[in-house]
Amino acid sequence: MRIPDGERISVPPDGRGDAPQPRWRRDFPIDWPQDEYVSRRDFTRFMVLTSLAFTVGQFWILLQNAWRRSQGALPIVAIDNVDAIPVGGNKVFTYPTEKDPCILVRLDETHFVAFDRLCTHLLCPVIPQPEEGHLHCPCHEGYFDIATGRPLAGPPQRPLERVTLEIRDGTIYATGKSESLA
Ligand code: FES
Repeated sequence: MRIPDGERISVPPDGRGDAPQPRWRRDFPIDWPQDEYVSRRDFTRFMVLTSLAFTVGQFWILLQNAWRRSQGALPIVAIDNVDAIPVGGNKVFTYPTEKDPCILVRLDETHFVAFDRLCTHLLCPVIPQPEEGHLHCPCHEGYFDIATGRPLAGPPQRPLERVTLEIRDGTIYATGKSESLA
């Protein structure tokens, strides 16, 4: 964008126009109209990069899910003993691979739930807040229902993937993954 000459207050010391000036002089202008233009340009650049990061993140999650499904049945893995997790307590674990962080939460005496731990917005780890009934993502104030993984508020649009559980002989096992119940 060209700033109309009428809005130019200062003149470069060498008296030449915009084009031959060094880059730093254009990036750090003295005059208000130019300064506003640089701010708008930087803001636009920031918005484009943020949107791009968001889109790449979403595609990455979809690809991972598709890859997992193509691998067939997931392993059955012991997470912990029932007695090791108090009501309202939680445990971070990985499933089905060491690179997939998940979180197990004990809702009451008999109910446990487990989900992917990474927020479906931009992959920050979620924090369980069982007293409030949700999982909280502190990065952009996202909230998920703690019983279903459904997004409740903030930027996340997709539910957390659920880890299916089974309790046998006092041990909690992860047995697979499924879409949220919502
Ligand atoms: S990463 Fe943005 S709300 Fe979770």
